[in-house]
Amino acid sequence: MSELPDWQIEIDQAAIRWQAEIDDAAALEALRSLEVRALGKAGEIPGLMKRIPQIPPQDRKAFGQAVNALQAHVAATIEARRQVLVEALIAAELQDATFDPAAVALPLKLGHPHPLSTVQADIEAIFTSMGFHVLDYPEIESEFDNFEALNIPGWHPAREMQDTFWLESGHLLRTHTSAGQVRAMHQFPAPFRAIFPGKVYRYEATDASHEHTFHQVEGLMIDRKVSVGHLLDSMRTLLSAILQREVEIRLRPGYFPFVEPGFELDIRCQVCAGDGCSACKRRGWLELLPCGLVHPNVLRAGGLDPEEWQGWAFGLGLSRLVMMRYGVPDVRLLMGGDLRFLSQF
Ligand code: DAH
Repeated sequence: MSELPDWQIEIDQAAIRWQAEIDDAAALEALRSLEVRALGKAGEIPGLMKRIPQIPPQDRKAFGQAVNALQAHVAATIEARRQVLVEALIAAELQDATFDPAAVALPLKLGHPHPLSTVQADIEAIFTSMGFHVLDYPEIESEFDNFEALNIPGWHPAREMQDTFWLESGHLLRTHTSAGQVRAMHQFPAPFRAIFPGKVYRYEATDASHEHTFHQVEGLMIDRKVSVGHLLDSMRTLLSAILQREVEIRLRPGYFPFVEPGFELDIRCQVCAGDGCSACKRRGWLELLPCGLVHPNVLRAGGLDPEEWQGWAFGLGLSRLVMMRYGVPDVRLLMGGDLRFLSQF
């Protein structure tokens, strides 16, 4: 009888050794760590394959098959041992006098969508039905996309309107969803329409109406011959759909470097229908969102010729909309993770 090669003896011994270790594993955790040592990525058995170059060429095939067989055998033995241990655990639990298999289960606490997600989904459905893309852009942005491309150079005082979390890399946490505007212009051929909802960040003190992290929805429409009349009419249609009733709106001038002209859009107070009440501070109108016609410099940054293409844009405060819809008095509740608050929805 020919003598067994060394590697064959070694594999046979490994099989015996692992078998003994597996039989000795008295708990599931021990079995798991053994499994990692034997079969894990850096484990002993996969490691055997690295030895192929040292095996005589005529034996290599047999060696590979033997390692594979060892691996399959050890895996099956571990699985069988696991079954035994699990069954023993169940048996022990059933033996335990304090374990009552007939006890009534506590009701499961089911989760549900966060109010921000609910309102965002509603808004996405409305815009999708009107032919808008729904886009998701990064929260970590370049200074270019968040500021420069939006006609806000470094020296511009508007930078101070949005206190910024800067990263060591020179990137920043986007301060507004407007940061997606120029990205979208590069992503889609004109004309197109899109919204981009998401989280934005401001490095500022928090109170009932300010939070360092909140949600916005940016809207952008690029087309030929876009006018303020078109903006006004689109906003009325969109807001009536979002608020589920006819709304009366008005524009007041507002300054934002990336739109010209820029506006603050007000809606007729829904509480007093314009007579003046505490909700609207007796004005009859509520400030809802800023908007405007896209500034030619922004169009240029997006690779569009302002002679040919125009656009309108708006920035909707999603957090504010949620607060209005559900009567939430403090913006910090939205991201605070307090179940007493969240379970009310
Ligand atoms: N990005 C602005 C902010 O967060 C809001 C804004 C104003 C967005 C005017 C717009 C706009 O699209 O046209 O304060």
